[in-house]
Amino acid sequence: MGYRSYAMAQQPRWLAEYISSLSFDKEICPYVLDVLAVHVRELERRGFIKSSEKLLKLIENFDCTKNYEGYEDIHEAIEYYLISASEEAKQINLGKSRNDQVATAIRLRTREEILDALEALYHFIKALYVKAKRYRETFFPTFTHLQPAQPGSAGLYFSSFAEELVDSFPLLVTALKLTDKCPLGAAAAAGSTVPLGREERCSELCFEDLALNALYATTSRAFALASASALLALSLPLTRFAEDMFIFSSPSFGLVKVPEDHAGTSSIMPHKRNPATLEVARAELSKLIGILTFQHALLKGLPSGYSLDLQQMTPSLWRAFSIFRKAALVLADFTEKLELDEAKAREFLRFPLQAADLAERLAVRGVPFRDAYARVARELKKTQDVNEIALKILGEPLGDPLLSRRAPGAPGNLEPVFEKIYEGIERILFVLQLRYKYQNCPNS
Ligand code: ARG
Repeated sequence: MGYRSYAMAQQPRWLAEYISSLSFDKEICPYVLDVLAVHVRELERRGFIKSSEKLLKLIENFDCTKNYEGYEDIHEAIEYYLISASEEAKQINLGKSRNDQVATAIRLRTREEILDALEALYHFIKALYVKAKRYRETFFPTFTHLQPAQPGSAGLYFSSFAEELVDSFPLLVTALKLTDKCPLGAAAAAGSTVPLGREERCSELCFEDLALNALYATTSRAFALASASALLALSLPLTRFAEDMFIFSSPSFGLVKVPEDHAGTSSIMPHKRNPATLEVARAELSKLIGILTFQHALLKGLPSGYSLDLQQMTPSLWRAFSIFRKAALVLADFTEKLELDEAKAREFLRFPLQAADLAERLAVRGVPFRDAYARVARELKKTQDVNEIALKILGEPLGDPLLSRRAPGAPGNLEPVFEKIYEGIERILFVLQLRYKYQNCPNS
């Protein structure tokens, strides 16, 4: 049984399985049922079925966890399950098709996935924020070219990632806006002749808007690309932070202690404390590049209107979300539990991190900056101790390496950064309230 039986001979099983999406339709099955429920109610309102009661019960009882066999996809499996129990179910594909139904279901799940990703990000940003505040005055070196650069604080370090993420999380909100448009009622490609309300069904599913043009609504996966792109962009600060943790926790740097929960061991080297979870996160997040490349390759040059290629794209979207969410949560937990070795951090002061400060001080006193720079460079050939040089050429030691940097965003003035991050966290929490709206959908 199936759509095929009316028009064509049975397909050999291996070919039927080749084109079937049943194995990964589990991911969207509950959302497909939600779409069907609102469609059935609309069919009743418009008089195309007598009563929706029995069908709605059957839809509610459909078991999404079961393995269904012999169907092209879950849409077909559900329809035949309904028809086997109710004559009225023969109407359920009136005025819609699998193409608008699947696009609607994918968008419903994507909306929630975006919120889950944002929530994981919230945990990471919060962990960075808490660490930044706790260690706001703790000396911590900065690096450029991975060479010791200027004196910084751990507050500066941790809040740098938090601020980037606060600036970048709206990428996911933009993806959400693109996603929150309802294709239902667009049918296969050009709408249906049956007078059913699109607005009614779409607002029951709590969509912000319609994906208006029927052809666009059924064929576009721009919303999926927007999510995958946002996840990839947001993964970059995650992987850069992880990379720092590898370097900073290596005993040759010794700045960060790997939390025991996150450490892996060695089979022969008893001293090892490897940052194992971050190694896996690094590898997993790199798959996002592959997923985005795959999605672009799949969509590039695809003719307008639904093609089965689109079906093959869907699981990669769930994969991207899952990879991102897990990695962000792992990094959040790592950050919460990590400790700094403050003494080791101060040891970096053996490098002339304040060399630029000294040249600046000379310049402020009237020496042209390039001459001041040259003077300090000459002295550094003799000793790396900047304070010794300062005593010699300024007649006084350099000030506190942190407090002397007072411009907004510098280690001596992080308050505006903290305020910005706090406000960003609040904005994320505000977006997350959409969860309550989605949880009550479909509403009728
Ligand atoms: N299983 C498909 C998907 O996941 C939906 C069905 C489209 N099939 C069709 N013949 N139009 O995208």
